[in-house]
Amino acid sequence: MSQSIKELIAGNRAWVKEVTESQPDFFKQLAEGQSPSFLWIGCSDSRVPATEITKTMPGAIFVQRNIANMVVHTDVNLLSVVYYAVKVLKVKHIIVCGHYGCGGVLAAMSNKKFGFLDNWLMNIKDVYRHHEAELDAIEDETERGDRFVELNVLEQAQNLSKISFLQEEWENGEFPYVHGWVYSLKDGLIKDLKVSANSNADLDKIFQYDV
Ligand code: CO
Repeated sequence: MSQSIKELIAGNRAWVKEVTESQPDFFKQLAEGQSPSFLWIGCSDSRVPATEITKTMPGAIFVQRNIANMVVHTDVNLLSVVYYAVKVLKVKHIIVCGHYGCGGVLAAMSNKKFGFLDNWLMNIKDVYRHHEAELDAIEDETERGDRFVELNVLEQAQNLSKISFLQEEWENGEFPYVHGWVYSLKDGLIKDLKVSANSNADLDKIFQYDV
């Protein structure tokens, strides 16, 4: 699907027309400020846009995307986004959304070199190492990749829970809940991995900060 740059601007104009026809005050209201209930941590993959696949509009979801939806504790960009979402926007839910067939996850599952990217993929290889026995036992490569995608989402959701300022937020109240989802490119459906953490109770003790 190849589009010209001009088509993007034309598409923008068409979209504005469409939105204002159904909601005349839409942009006026949005310009006054944002109060999204959700933070989305997803993959940069062009096929997994947070708003379209959840049928939401601008204003609904605060978004951070990177290759393979990783939560890396030295990633100042991600941590700043999470901090702002939690401390200022007071989002009620944080969703880590991976997707089957994720190029980053599959690259990390292989032994191929990807140049500079190898450094980022190392974080994903670490997830493999934690679940090596389970993953190595899956003979079918596609199935192993799919399971690796799920385990990576669960691991990144846990990585979120390890953040001290998030645990601090849980001391003061119920929110935010951390969720793990996987999107299927084949049918467009989201699978809820049924994790919904709003405490550090499920973490190894070493990651549980003192109240
Ligand atoms: Co991906």
